[in-house]
Order: sequence, then structure tokens, then C-alpha cells
Amino acid sequence: MAKTVFIKTYGCQMNAYDSERMGDVLAPLGFDPTDRAEAADMVVLNTCHIREKAAEKVFSKLGRLGALKRDRRAQGQDLMIVVAGCVAQADGTEILRRAPQVDIVVGPQAYHRLPELVERAAQGGAGVIDLEFPLDSKFERLPVSARASGATAFLSVQEGCDKFCTFCVVPYTRGVEYSRPVAAVAAEARRLVAAGVREITLLGQNVNAYHGQAPALTPGAAREWGLGRLLRHLAGIEGLARIRYSTSHPSDMNDDLIAAHGEVEALMPYLHLPVQSGSDPILRAMNRGYTADFYLRLIDRLRAVRPDLALSSDFIVGFPGETEADHAATLALVRRVEFAQAYSFKFSPRPGTPAANLPAVPEAQKIARLDELQALLRHQQEAFNRAAIGRLLPVLFTGPGRHGGQQLGRSPYCQAVHVATDADLAGRILEVRMRGVKPNSLLGELAAVGGMVPRQDARVRA
Ligand code: SAH
Ligand code: SF4
Ligand code: F3S
Repeated sequence: MAKTVFIKTYGCQMNAYDSERMGDVLAPLGFDPTDRAEAADMVVLNTCHIREKAAEKVFSKLGRLGALKRDRRAQGQDLMIVVAGCVAQADGTEILRRAPQVDIVVGPQAYHRLPELVERAAQGGAGVIDLEFPLDSKFERLPVSARASGATAFLSVQEGCDKFCTFCVVPYTRGVEYSRPVAAVAAEARRLVAAGVREITLLGQNVNAYHGQAPALTPGAAREWGLGRLLRHLAGIEGLARIRYSTSHPSDMNDDLIAAHGEVEALMPYLHLPVQSGSDPILRAMNRGYTADFYLRLIDRLRAVRPDLALSSDFIVGFPGETEADHAATLALVRRVEFAQAYSFKFSPRPGTPAANLPAVPEAQKIARLDELQALLRHQQEAFNRAAIGRLLPVLFTGPGRHGGQQLGRSPYCQAVHVATDADLAGRILEVRMRGVKPNSLLGELAAVGGMVPRQDARVRA
């Protein structure tokens, strides 16, 4: 009988990618994906440990799943509960102590071994744990995905981090930096494009630190390629219209990658480049490895090659020791850059990280600073979106919007665009005239060509 698995993803895009791969690993065991936990035979929580709130969410969810499992058992059935991702890696056996209803705890580098773990759990092995960082990469051990994922897809090219920012758990949960070989990345990209994908986002915790093994070694040729060279290589894949990458570290934006932004047509004019703070003393205390001025000069260089580049960032307010002057420096940097979009968070002390034990900024101050920063960022985002009104932009459509009679797509600047139409436009790139703004999206109209909606979009590449 067919079984079903419900996979719930928390955290970053790398987790979203991993969740899809876990689906691929479980498919040969007879598990079909479902979006209803209540009906599933297996529930996988792919967790995030980045902030306390993210991690705590998992335990409240596990409480509800425990009750569901008891009900099932009362009816002579069962529910297998799997905790994967970064909370699994960070908390390990602690999860089984707090939530004994959990059957499997598997870290982000070991989920390719799920078949074996499921087998052991099914044989009654209480609390099966696999938190290893195997020497052989999980990527090359995963089955080839057979499922088409729509018009856009994620592709992990790099994982782990060696930067050790003092606030961050990622180097502990994801391990050391690893880059997949160029040939493996290109093969996966080609498969995605053959399945109908038109836009690929290359992923890595530090994606621009990418240094993957070159495809073939010719005497004298580089043994490793950086991200810029990889982007140029992938841009040559027929049918791949758009490429993005995330998340980048300012220190790893090298000359070749900057130049690629001006030269690679398929590379979209949108860059998520987290700065975290605009204050040098705080950046130093965070171990970020750059100054505010370095960041600003980097933005200038990027805009020199790609003047319309839309920028996005992450910010942390209330890092230990942050003064009003430090906060003002962050606001000043934001005013200088003018971000199209951004995420901002209150500092959350994470066990085991160097910043966890430093004297905390009072909560009320953190809240006030976050409010002030978010108001400014919101204002900039609105201004950025408003500036699109009246413009004609190529939109990649991904499918129906939430409401009927609507299609949803994405502009080159990563803005969500809604268009009123009954047509199915998924996978097509069409010129859209922007007519209005909503808080998180644009409203547009398909540009008519000679009074007709264009049918052919092969030439629109943006
Ligand atoms: N590799 C990326 C960030 C990955 S984590 C980079 O270096 O920029 C995603 C974001 O979560 C970070 O950019 C940071 O803004 C936020 N974050 C990470 N740890 C945090 C913590 N302890 N408290 C609050 N925010 C945090
Ligand atoms: Fe975390 Fe810093 Fe690495 Fe980003 S660069 S993942 S913030 S340690
Ligand atoms: Fe969270 Fe792990 Fe991603 S901590 S942000 S899921 S790398």
C-alpha cells in the first residue's frame, strides 16, 4: 500500500533544497509526498537553529505530533516522526530526551542514509540518530530527482561555512565549507532545465566562497573554479533563462564575480548581500571581516557594472555592546545603499557561539531599534517597488496566484508580480507593464503586441 510523507521545512533555502532531496530519497521506499500531516505515515521536520524562536517552534510542533502518534497507535496504526536539519545537528540526543515520540534524528549531512535509518526505526530501534559529517559528500550519493519542480528551482552548489561569525550556529550545524564539482552542478542544472525549469538559484551558506573542482583538467588550467566562472558556464545551458545565487558574503565578492554581474545576461540584477551592521566596532565584534566602508565601496563597484542592481541584506540589531551610535551607523549605511528588500532580526544568543555569553542589550532597546530599522527598510522597499510603476519588465510566471483568475510571476529584481488572467502562463517569460503596488507585490498587465497577448517568448531573455 502507498505510504505518504509530510515534510515541513523551516529556515533557509538550503533547507528547502534538502527537503526536496529527502523527498527523492524517500520515494523509492514507497513514500508519496502529502501536504497534510494529519494523514501522513511519516512526518519529517526539517528544522532551523538560527534563532531561539526558530528552534523552539520545532518542540511545540513535536508536542502536537506526539498526540497524533498516540491517537494512531490507539487505532492500531503508527506515525513515524523524523527530525532533520540544524536543530537535529545542534541538539541531537537532547531531542529524544525532550520528545521521546521522535523516531529518527538525522543531521543535514546524513539524510542520504534515510532508507537505512527508516529500516532500523521500523524494526523498533528506539530513537535512531545519525549526525555524522561523512567524508563523502551526500550530494553525489543522492538519487537523481525525477520530479519536475516548476519554472524555478534551487540548486545547492556549496555548503557549510568556515567564517565563524560570533553570533552564528551555521559552522557548527552545517560543518566546514564544501563545494560540489562543476560537472555535478552542471549536470543537475541541465536535468532541471530539461524538466522545464527556466530559473535556477544557486545555493550555499556562503555561495560566493564556491571553489569547485574544474570539469576537466587540461595542463595548466585552473583546478578549481570560482562562482563567477561557474555562472558563465551555466549561462551557456540552452533554455536556462535566469540565474540567481544566494547567500553571499561581502568578503567573497571577487573581481571575476563582480564582472559577471555586468557580463552574464542570464544573471539577474538582484543580489542578497548581508551586511548585518553598519558599525565597524560591531562588525569587528561579529567577526565579519569587513568594514562598513568596504561594503559601501563593494556596492559602488557592483553598481558600476550593473547600475540597476537591486540589493537585499540581512541585519542584526542589538548585538551585545551595540550602542545608539552603532545603531545610527547602521541606519546611515541603509540610507546610503537604498535596499530593494531586506530581512532584519533581533540578536538571539545561540548556545555554544562566542557572542552568547556577552552582556545583552536590553530587550526594550532591541525592539525600538528593530522597529526603527524596519520602518526605514520598508520605506525603501516601497520606493523601489513604486519606481517600477509604468515600466515594462520581463516576468517569469510560476503559476496561479492565491486568488482565482490570477497568475504569479517574478520580475528580474525578484519582485512578485500578479497579473489578472485566466490563461496558464507557468514557465513563460512575458513582458508585463507594471500598474500598481501592494505591500509585497506588484500588479501588472500583460503587454499586448499588436492587440494580442504575445504567444512566443523565446526571444525575451531576462
Ligand atoms: N551566510 C549568511 C547568513 C546565514 S544566516 C551571511 O553570512 O550573511 C541568515 C541570517 O540570520 C544572517 O544573515 C543573520 O542576519 C541572521 N542571524 C544569524 N544568527 C543570528 C542570531 N544569533 N541572532 C539573530 N539573527 C541571526
Ligand atoms: Fe553564519 Fe557568518 Fe557563516 Fe554567514 S558567514 S553562515 S553568518 S558564520
Ligand atoms: Fe537555519 Fe540551518 Fe539554514 S540554522 S538558516 S536551516 S543553515
